[in-house]
Amino acid sequence: MKATIIINAYSRLEHSLYQSDRIREELLRMGVEADILRNNFFAASVSDSGEIVSKLGDYAFCVYLDKDKYTSQMLERAGMRLFNRHDAIEVCDDKMTTFIRLADSGIPMPRTLAGLLCYDPQEDVSEQTLKEVEDSLGYPMIVKMCYGSLGKGVFKVDNADQLRRAARELKCTPHLFQRFVPESYGRDMRVMVIGGKCVAAMERRSDGDFRSNLELGGSAKAITPPREVAAMCEKAADILRLDYCGVDVLYGKDEYLLCEVNSNAFFRGLEAATGKNIARAYCEHMLSCIK
Ligand SMILES: Nc1ncnc2c1ncn2[C@@H]1O[C@H](COP(=O)(O)OP(=O)(O)O)[C@@H](O)[C@H]1O
Ligand SMILES: [Mg+2]
Repeated sequence: MKATIIINAYSRLEHSLYQSDRIREELLRMGVEADILRNNFFAASVSDSGEIVSKLGDYAFCVYLDKDKYTSQMLERAGMRLFNRHDAIEVCDDKMTTFIRLADSGIPMPRTLAGLLCYDPQEDVSEQTLKEVEDSLGYPMIVKMCYGSLGKGVFKVDNADQLRRAARELKCTPHLFQRFVPESYGRDMRVMVIGGKCVAAMERRSDGDFRSNLELGGSAKAITPPREVAAMCEKAADILRLDYCGVDVLYGKDEYLLCEVNSNAFFRGLEAATGKNIARAYCEHMLSCIK
């Protein structure tokens, strides 16, 4: 049995390359060879007769570390088992879609409004829209790009001027407005769920920023998450049909709040902080699904 690990066509991020190397290494230890392939060769496409054709015929399964939702969709339609599944990656890629998908699950999340998508850069965001956002969420509030990671598309706005500026800048990009959770300023939990079970967790803290992402200089400490947090993250992974994910959890005043679910969470920082072999846990799960 052979597997393939598909990585993004362009990414040279060290964390990303570490991810694929570690997974290949652990698969090999378990007796499965894996080829790491960059997603730049049209692994799947639609033939002139309308058939979906895959070039990954001989591989037993595919560890899909990219977020290219077209290739993942076609590969799956062509019969390939992807880890994670196409639908799970697609939903998690968009923070607003994730929020909506989990809305009636009973999982606590900060109040969130979807930004209104604008198709014309010349148009202004209406005062009525901004007023409703202000009235619903108050200040400070969080504005996020729906497609963003590593903390780069997440902003805190403290007043009406900043909100108007942010709304103007993001109006043509999918975005959302969210209640700020002050108790979680500069800290949160990252909980890794693999095969439906919480396998490791860390608390992330930042000194100078409300965002605790390690990529922005946050530090990490291994924790055993409270049982209710582990259960909440496992439930989210189950609803979203994720084989593997890193869930960000905020510290609310009275409860823990789910912040976002990362289908393609990097595990380097978590392995370093916890000493746990995350790659191994993921590979064990994948092989248990395939056999
Ligand atoms: N509503 C919020 N209230 C307080 N802090 C938040 C909120 N949303 C995000 N954060 C902080 O910002 C960080 C990045 O936000 P997140 O939604 O996880 O985006 P990214 O995909 O960029 O990691 C979180 O880890 C958390 O520290
Ligand atoms: Mg995050």
